[in-house]
Amino acid sequence: MSDKLLLRALRGETLDRPPFWFMRQAGRYLPEYRETRAQAGDFLDLCYNSALAEEVTLQPIRRYGMDAAILFADILLVPQALGQHLAFRAGEGPVLEPIRKVADIPVLNLDRLHDVLGPIYDTVGRLSKSLPGDVTLIGFAGAPWTVATYMVEGAGSKDYPTIKQWAFADPDGFQRLIDVVTEATTLYLKRQIAAGAEVVQIFDTWAMALPAAYHERLVFEPLRRIAASIHADHPDVPVIGFPRGIGAAYAHAAQIDGIAGLSIDWGMDPAWAAAHVQPHVTVQGNLDPRLVVAGGEPMLDAARHILQTLGKGPFIFNLGHGFVPETNPDHVAELSDLVRNWSAR
Ligand code: CP3
Repeated sequence: MSDKLLLRALRGETLDRPPFWFMRQAGRYLPEYRETRAQAGDFLDLCYNSALAEEVTLQPIRRYGMDAAILFADILLVPQALGQHLAFRAGEGPVLEPIRKVADIPVLNLDRLHDVLGPIYDTVGRLSKSLPGDVTLIGFAGAPWTVATYMVEGAGSKDYPTIKQWAFADPDGFQRLIDVVTEATTLYLKRQIAAGAEVVQIFDTWAMALPAAYHERLVFEPLRRIAASIHADHPDVPVIGFPRGIGAAYAHAAQIDGIAGLSIDWGMDPAWAAAHVQPHVTVQGNLDPRLVVAGGEPMLDAARHILQTLGKGPFIFNLGHGFVPETNPDHVAELSDLVRNWSAR
């Protein structure tokens, strides 16, 4: 069994010095990322260029020595590989040709999935060779609900009028969309694992948009199905869930079969998570990325509080959502030093 810190924490070990990595650790806050991205062309060109995607995955590891590297790609590559038109416009975020009703679903098709996503599997394969031996490689995908919000709204959204109308008024029709995305996501993650991903994280960034009564059907059940199917082929690969912003429902999420780790958002009280989540799964989180923008003692104090409160059980230090572009790279260095030199004793 591997003695990498991240894998030990996900097996339920309490470590004297918890492992750490950061969501969006590769990205625009790093000057070397901006340079590589300019070389690639646009953001999607970067995702599909295995050599350059490998390079930007490694950039934060070289600077800060995190315990894990996350594959550089995007959650919206899955709808694109299913046949939906996708573009990233500068300053605007993603734009998709929307799917709004059952009659639109046939646009989606699993046949070309692995052809389109082939370069992503190549990036994983390269990384599994080039990463330092103590660094864990994390693969990822978006959760079906979150990916569907972009597929149906056609872009980022503030209050999800179109997808909620479909999901609430036509639950059976909407379930067909969730089923297609669940299947594609499962196939995608299995191929990442076959190529060398040692852990996978499933990002449900917009779980917070749903009423609690819909969590079971649209958040927890797809996660359970994906994890079960992964484990049928790869029983030892840990799955981390990130149903962002679901509040007290994290206590239910913690008990989903097949989930080794649960990433908590920055709104959660670490003491509550220590009491209600950590008895069931390894907790990951949850510094507010805006505290890393602020830096200094406010950032360090908040990080110490999280380490003290959650470090007594199975724990991975992380943010409660991804770094924002205005983050000062020096603040990330200070934060990384704090965690790396932490000792629970
Ligand atoms: O370092 C890493 O975390 C790995 C790479 C990664 C990216 N996106 C790169 C990216 C990961 C894990 C993601 C996940 C992702 N993508 C999520 C879930 C996590 C979250 O942040 O909530 C979501 C919702 C997306 C969809 C997405 N991708 C949006 C809405 C945008 C535009 C907004 C923005 O931040 O620019 C992206 C673009 C994106 N994905 C960038 C990066 C580095 C910025 C692209 C650029 O301009 O270079």
